[in-house]
Amino acid sequence: MCGIIGYVGDRDASFILVQGLKRLEYRGYDSAGVATFQDGSIAIRRCLGKLENLERLLREAPISGTVGIGHTRWATHGRPSEQNAHPHRAGKIVVIHNGIIENYLELRAALADRGRTFSSETDTEVISHLIDERVQSGQDLVHATRSVVHELEGSFSIVVMHEDSPDRLVAAKSATPIVIGLGENENFVASDIPAILDHTRRILFLEDGEMAEVTRDRVTLSTFAGDPVAREPRTVAWDPVTAQKGGYRHFLLKEIHEQPQAIIDTMRGRILQEQSDVSLDELAKADWLAQARRMVFVACGTAWHACLVGKYFLEHIARIPAEVDYASEFRSRDPVLDEGTVLVVISQSGETADTLAAVETARERGAKVLAICNVVDSSIARKADAVIYTHAGPEISVASTKAFTTQLTVLYLLGIYVARRRGVLSEPGAHALIQDLVNLPSHVEQCLKRERAIEKVAKKYGNARDFLYLGRGINFPIALEGALKLKEISYVHAEGYAAGEMKHGPIALINEEVPVVVLLPKDAVYQKSLSNMKEVESRGGRIIVVTDAPSPELEDIAWEILPVPTSNPCLLPVLLTIPLQLLAYYIADYRGTDVDQPRNLAKSVTVE
Ligand code: AGP
Repeated sequence: MCGIIGYVGDRDASFILVQGLKRLEYRGYDSAGVATFQDGSIAIRRCLGKLENLERLLREAPISGTVGIGHTRWATHGRPSEQNAHPHRAGKIVVIHNGIIENYLELRAALADRGRTFSSETDTEVISHLIDERVQSGQDLVHATRSVVHELEGSFSIVVMHEDSPDRLVAAKSATPIVIGLGENENFVASDIPAILDHTRRILFLEDGEMAEVTRDRVTLSTFAGDPVAREPRTVAWDPVTAQKGGYRHFLLKEIHEQPQAIIDTMRGRILQEQSDVSLDELAKADWLAQARRMVFVACGTAWHACLVGKYFLEHIARIPAEVDYASEFRSRDPVLDEGTVLVVISQSGETADTLAAVETARERGAKVLAICNVVDSSIARKADAVIYTHAGPEISVASTKAFTTQLTVLYLLGIYVARRRGVLSEPGAHALIQDLVNLPSHVEQCLKRERAIEKVAKKYGNARDFLYLGRGINFPIALEGALKLKEISYVHAEGYAAGEMKHGPIALINEEVPVVVLLPKDAVYQKSLSNMKEVESRGGRIIVVTDAPSPELEDIAWEILPVPTSNPCLLPVLLTIPLQLLAYYIADYRGTDVDQPRNLAKSVTVE
């Protein structure tokens, strides 16, 4: 998710812009840039890497002016580079953008047909050309921008400068946040409140489908249709650090709540409902994927749990033999791989040393490598034969949450994509699964609405010293993930186990001191898992059951019931994960651990 800031006033714009971008550094980015009106034109300074590089550039080649825009880029389309950094210029127009324009390729082709040439790989540059075409034809900046936003499909927040209108900025919002800060003879635009909190606490929030024309003494709101919008500013009481967390106490809780949007962003442009199919442009040249005779999933930690779900799903839906291995183990054994094997590596950071080494091992043995990453152009992404990006946005908290559920989302898309091309998934079957996938974000939202009840359960069991998590089938990996979340952020010992395996040893652990979290969706193995629950209950275990089928029978057996909405059994791993994330968070919060930076942990384990 990129960082945006704009300023219109009487002070030194480039200083205010860079300081504001620094307040957004926590979001993660790979390049940065600013633009100001200077001596009758627009001056731009951009660079790859961190803001200190931009500050150095501005010392070497300063820009003046009291009106300008600034941007930190988290690459989605086009690798991190100075050419792809924002702001982007076309003719008299300069634009910064946050989001994903799904139809940018056809817009770009049409612009090229009209003689336009491009200097970047980004979807953003297309916007600057479209607006420039209109101002060149005589439209003013507001009308030109309003006309263009109707052509854009996808998510966007943009701020636009026009060389012939040096006293104003125009902003437009669809799906990604934009706020307007109101000052004294100065006004601000930002993607996030922290960027402008040093200057004002009076904030106007733009809604989807709205625009703002901003001068130093006036802010005019309107809809994309041109209707005026009247809105009272709100006064934000947050301190800067709280503002970075969007008002949440920890980044982890913020990122748990970002999951519906992250899943929407990850599916954006990839679902073809009418054709009951999935579109993965990244795999256009990867015909080796549908012809794979075997898939080997490899990762570490939470990403390894995603691999386990991937194995179940790809075998079930695409009928491809699949196996899973820890990256650290895979690279230590002498794996049998050949050209019919596809190694699927999953990594949020794209920098995990063991996973990177596994990619090297597979490449040496002639296997193709498909990566699922959250960081564009990361080391693992660059070394793979193909990469599918999750669009979860920067994940700040060390414990992985939205990256995990978007990894599962990509695996669902991949499974449908491959199954349709292998001719093993019917159109009606694909249609039903896709419909359930489309409904997934709202189902996740429903799970999040039960937060207070889960917080109560967390406080009730927060003093326990050991937890057992049980799951079966495609939800066995979720038992592992729930246990990992708890132990890594609360330091409480927890084990995830296949429910059917409990009687082969772990049942010896059961007593009234050990809460047992049982994942019990109403699926094909419900009765077997219910039997496991009764085995636990008969030994005094305190059962916390997570289910899409609460019932009086369960109320008799379980101490707590955490309900989730029902969905396609293959998609329930996502829904069952949400209560486990919240349970781990509130137990950790209750125990007072450092939720976002747990002891001994790193966000990306780049050492072996
Ligand atoms: C997950 O909560 C942990 N922080 C950790 O297990 C993580 O999933 C693992 O280190 C893999 O990281 P990656 O996805 O960046 O490769």
